Amino acid sequence: MGALTEPEISDEEPMSGHGPAIPLTAMKATALTGVAHVPGDKSISHRSLILGALSVGETRVRGLLEGEDVLATAEAMRRFGADVSRSTEGEWSVHGVGTGGFMEPEDVIDCGNAGTGVRLIMGAMATTAIAATFTGDASLRSRPMARITDPLAEFGARAYGRSQGRLPMTIIGAHDPVPVRYTLPVPSAQVKSAVLLAGLNAPGETVVIEPEATRDHTERMLRGFGAEVSVEETGDGRVITLRGEPELTPQSIDVPRDPSSAAFPVCAALIVEGSDVLVPNIGLNPTRSGLFETLREMGANLTYENPREESGEPVADLRARFSPDMKGIEVPPERAASMIDEYPILSVVASFAEGQTMMRGVKELRVKESDRIDAMAVGLRTAGVTVEEGEDWWAVTGVGPGGVPGGARVEARLDHRIAMSFLCLGMAAKKPVTVDDAGPIATSFPVFQDLMEGLGAVFRRQNA
Ligand code: S3P
Repeated sequence: MGALTEPEISDEEPMSGHGPAIPLTAMKATALTGVAHVPGDKSISHRSLILGALSVGETRVRGLLEGEDVLATAEAMRRFGADVSRSTEGEWSVHGVGTGGFMEPEDVIDCGNAGTGVRLIMGAMATTAIAATFTGDASLRSRPMARITDPLAEFGARAYGRSQGRLPMTIIGAHDPVPVRYTLPVPSAQVKSAVLLAGLNAPGETVVIEPEATRDHTERMLRGFGAEVSVEETGDGRVITLRGEPELTPQSIDVPRDPSSAAFPVCAALIVEGSDVLVPNIGLNPTRSGLFETLREMGANLTYENPREESGEPVADLRARFSPDMKGIEVPPERAASMIDEYPILSVVASFAEGQTMMRGVKELRVKESDRIDAMAVGLRTAGVTVEEGEDWWAVTGVGPGGVPGGARVEARLDHRIAMSFLCLGMAAKKPVTVDDAGPIATSFPVFQDLMEGLGAVFRRQNA
């Protein structure tokens, strides 16, 4: 289990893996104040390592997220033949093997909790004539992989997994890959990315059509690494075309801070009385910033300070202050993809708003690290909040600022975002909230506890 406390800056690579459950209680906080420097973006960190491994020469990465998910991807890239090393906190270097240069791993690749890691890596190896077997923790082994293996089969790859396309799974990469034209059946950046990464080692043009825009880091980064990628907005959605078999050139990458991690100190500040928190350097790429837009529509006192452009991406410092006048809203379903990881924490904020927050078009939430609608609904109800749900929607009826009873012990279900969301709930509820296992937080936000304590949050460790 990765420590929940901030790792000391050292030259030693942090450990990953899961151990015994770490129950943790969040007490009501008086006010959250100060500056919160959240870690690097998880999506961009995975992609930096994978694209670095597919380039010839040295890619240098600064600000890499050293969470368990990303560490598992770093280890996987080594198993496929790349030389991946860490010099100091957040600074990594990858000597890649080039497009089509992956070696066959000698043993099973364990991706831990990381859906993004395993799906992108499967795509990256599926058009090379090697076999690899993937597994992960109990959460990852329950998640659907057919969404990845279906398009990979069109390239000529074969997949042998457990029933319902679950891990462990062996992928036999295509000997003579053919390019693919694929329309995404679900709005998923992971599927889009797996197809594009597979397309790198196929001749000709691989085309992905996404009816709903999802995060576009893979397209942007592939271009940065020298691949030819065009994007056309059409009546059918975004049409992304990649020319196969490029020689990727190594890059120097500064990983921006993760808006999905920023969501936690921002949302906690909105609901804890007296709070005023600054979260600097957050990317506001429109494919990622739906939560912040939604919060502002609800009446949150959330401002974008010092807005600027960095590496072609809009960036700002987020300032969040206690917002006693928030109102429930209907979240536009077309915004879902741009805030898909943020619905759990939004549901916590909605609990402290006046009236109902309706979230539709969100069935993808049911196949994340946990069924996030069910996990939040069950826990919020235990904490005294009214939640209704259907297959594709859920609605939270807020009780106004300070009105949530709390006093609950809830299950995190091996899901980092569920654990952090309920801990934020406990910071503002009348009575403490305990999560049964805060360990999974280390997958994406290893310094969460320290960072929140630095702002004024109060946690208590419980015995398992
Ligand atoms: C991610 C895509 C999203 C998101 C995940 C990260 C990515 O998953 O939930 O945390 O980096 O591509 P889906 O592609 O399943 O929507």
